[in-house]
Amino acid sequence: MYNSLGLQDCFNYIGMEVYLFHDYSMLIVLFILVGVMLSVLVILGSGNYMVKGYRSSEFLELTWTVVPGFLLMSLGVPSLFLMYYMEGAVKYDLTVKAVGHQWYWSYEIGDYGTGIEFDSYMVGLDDLVSGDYRLLNVDNSLVLPYLTKIRVLVGSGDVLHAWALPSMGIKADACPGRLNVLSLGVCRPGSMYGQCSEICGVNHSFMPIHVEWVSWEDFLMNHAA
Ligand code: CUA
Repeated sequence: MYNSLGLQDCFNYIGMEVYLFHDYSMLIVLFILVGVMLSVLVILGSGNYMVKGYRSSEFLELTWTVVPGFLLMSLGVPSLFLMYYMEGAVKYDLTVKAVGHQWYWSYEIGDYGTGIEFDSYMVGLDDLVSGDYRLLNVDNSLVLPYLTKIRVLVGSGDVLHAWALPSMGIKADACPGRLNVLSLGVCRPGSMYGQCSEICGVNHSFMPIHVEWVSWEDFLMNHAA
């Protein structure tokens, strides 16, 4: 988790696609950077600054229109595909409501007669036990079943917050008076952390998100009415 140069390992297909798209766009950016640097070097090295040779050039104008246009297309098309993929499906197996407050999250799950409703506060520095992550562990974690299509409705009770899970490639603003939808679907059990990602006041840094992924059996055993 710490000391990592890349993005976090992802738990879901969306996250993996986001990671791949990040690497791919970095590759193109690098390609442009190297191209520009090379031509600058060539122009400076040649000493005559090349413009002397040109009054007008249709080939040059065509090239510097078509090539950047193609580069933009090659970034935009996969980006749009990814956006629609992140939007998710129409039907879900489980709906979770995450509501931001100053400064904690509260969660609601009403499906399957679970009637879950609780607040999730950061564990204070004095209450940390060995092995906890400082500023990331919470007193009540969100426990969800893996291999499930989950819809998260993100809202706010007061000001703007943002519900984010980096290892899912997911982030959504929590706005008062409206709901944003996220699609979660995790391939393996585990535990992941996130933080509020919209400046929301003095304790903005102290309203982390912790989600634990368990099997359906464990989920229902713990929660079903
Ligand atoms: Cu809530 Cu920042």
